[in-house]
Amino acid sequence: MQRLPISEVRTDLEKKFSRNHVTILVGETGSGKSTQVPQFILALNNGKEKIAVTQPRRVAAINLAKRVADETKTTLGQDVGYTVRFQNMSSAKTKIKYLTDGMLLRELLLRTNLDQYTTIILDEAHERTIITDLLMGFLKTLLQRRKNLRLIVMSATIDADKFSRFFDGAEVLYVQGRRFPVQRYYLSKPVEDIVDATVRTAIQIHASEPMGDILAFLAGQEDIDKAVDMLNDMIQSLPKGVPDLIALPLYAALPPQQQLKVFEKVAGNKRKIIIATNIAETSLTISGVRYVIDGGTHKVKVWRHDLGLDSLLTMPISKSNAAQRMGRAGREAAGKCYRLYTETDYYGLKSQSEPEIERCDVAFPILTLKLAGVSDVLGWNWLERPSKAAIMSALMQLYALKALDDEGQITEVGKKMAVLPLPPNLSAVLLDAHQKGIADPVLDIVSCLSIENLIMNPHPDKRDEVYEKRLPFITASGGMGDLVVLRNYVQHYRRLPSSSDRKEWCKEVYISYRAMSNVEKVSINQSEQDIRNQLESYLKAESANIHSEDKSVQLGPSVLNEQIIQCFLTGFLANTALSLPGKMYRTIAGGQTINIHPSSSVFGKNEDAIMYTEYIFTTKAYARNVSPIDLEWLQRIAPHFLSRRTAGHD
Ligand code: CDP
Ligand code: MG
Repeated sequence: MQRLPISEVRTDLEKKFSRNHVTILVGETGSGKSTQVPQFILALNNGKEKIAVTQPRRVAAINLAKRVADETKTTLGQDVGYTVRFQNMSSAKTKIKYLTDGMLLRELLLRTNLDQYTTIILDEAHERTIITDLLMGFLKTLLQRRKNLRLIVMSATIDADKFSRFFDGAEVLYVQGRRFPVQRYYLSKPVEDIVDATVRTAIQIHASEPMGDILAFLAGQEDIDKAVDMLNDMIQSLPKGVPDLIALPLYAALPPQQQLKVFEKVAGNKRKIIIATNIAETSLTISGVRYVIDGGTHKVKVWRHDLGLDSLLTMPISKSNAAQRMGRAGREAAGKCYRLYTETDYYGLKSQSEPEIERCDVAFPILTLKLAGVSDVLGWNWLERPSKAAIMSALMQLYALKALDDEGQITEVGKKMAVLPLPPNLSAVLLDAHQKGIADPVLDIVSCLSIENLIMNPHPDKRDEVYEKRLPFITASGGMGDLVVLRNYVQHYRRLPSSSDRKEWCKEVYISYRAMSNVEKVSINQSEQDIRNQLESYLKAESANIHSEDKSVQLGPSVLNEQIIQCFLTGFLANTALSLPGKMYRTIAGGQTINIHPSSSVFGKNEDAIMYTEYIFTTKAYARNVSPIDLEWLQRIAPHFLSRRTAGHD
């Protein structure tokens, strides 16, 4: 095997590692950090080590374990293994275990001392996921208790000072990467359609550049699938004599088997193009890449006050992301990078992306701390402390969800919520649904809510026509609101016999077919796939002692619908409003005036009280996705919430 750059610092690393509790290692992607460092450590102590290596993404954990098992000529799952949610390929004697950061956090919460490991390697620390950040805080405390534990923090970007300062001035070791020159191209003017531009650039490279694979970055699954489809169509009509082009998608929601395809070499006179999310930016190395196409955007999780939940938004990348992407083209030979934006746009990019903890709701991390028994969450060891306002609002939210009690202690429900891979408010909805025996229909709606752009806005010319097609579903909801309408759509869609029927129907009612087909396998947490199966098995595993029989089939439709809305009410208490004269409403939490959005099925009706899952402000404040609620439900579900509000806290 070729000598990797990491070998240059092996001796130095071994010295620092033996001398210190914490070592920070910075090295460019592809320099051998993830695959080699665990092997060095293992060899150092004559194989007596037990090493955990964390990855933010499950596909990276699986792939690295396979690679290292190969390199060490051992059977995967023996000395080298991996653990990701629902898949354990490791045994009690595994010496190098790759696992997602979420799995290590779980182990930490279950067995607080991590006694099963002698060394922890936090990899991809530059990604600054909330979970990696939390792990650093927990490990800092743990290191005081476990004197023989060693920690290595590995990062692909050079700003490692923050990590070093956090661990009381831990030593930083730099690995110089191997880099070939990469020629960079910008657009002369911006393009509208990035998918189309990607496809055209790919075809142009394929037709005019020497062999070498192409790696293209697009924001999300939808764009990637579209680009792969377009390329597959165009490949058919390539002139004779042009080598074959094989287009492969790569994103987190893809089944693992399909993800691994991108690593296979293509035989013969063929070129591979991989169209990926930022998953291929630093955590996976695909060899053979000589050309990079950078679409300039990625999806990031952002807390949306309007929705009351985190959602994935497409945003411009940072300069640091752009540099990483470009670097993928110059690992094995000189390469080329095509940036699908202008040079001026490039200079307008932020230098770094913000860490997740600054962008997202902190209810989940706060709940995790509570589960770990931390009482003073403000004063905790934060690598980056969220604002006091963000922490207070998370505490209030958790209290309203009954995850915390009056004293701020975690409740039994709170403990269950802490282990579900969903934002706490949706976990509350789902747990309540599970207890009522109606998890299935509620899961359908939760999936719809977590998908972007499911219901599309028709052009004004078409509005009447589309409304007419939607009307039967609205009528069938019996005035019970938009959540029920959503469910009616899903049920109808599911009953249609073929995918062409489904496509046809989606077009009529202006529902995104792509989005709808994802409702079944929606991925809320980007690093996980198939949230549905996941949640189903979680509910089974975590709530074995609560009711799980499916009652939804026995209930009459209106009783069922009422119960569904009551489930949502447990999670969306903060999004409720009481009627005012003139078809307006006043929010219970903030006392603001709000109107029902014209797109709602209950627009123009006069309800006593409403619950909504979306809040938007255009010319005035609007509630979207509205369901009428009974005041009596509110009193029953949320006496703790109402009494605080009426006691004048606001
Ligand atoms: O972690 P880092 O980005 O520093 O590098 P690594 O993942 O340890 O990969 C080191 C080298 O191993 C890369 O340059 C790849 O050439 C190779 N590798 C590979 O070919 N296939 C894999 N599945 C993993 C690594
Ligand atoms: Mg790595």
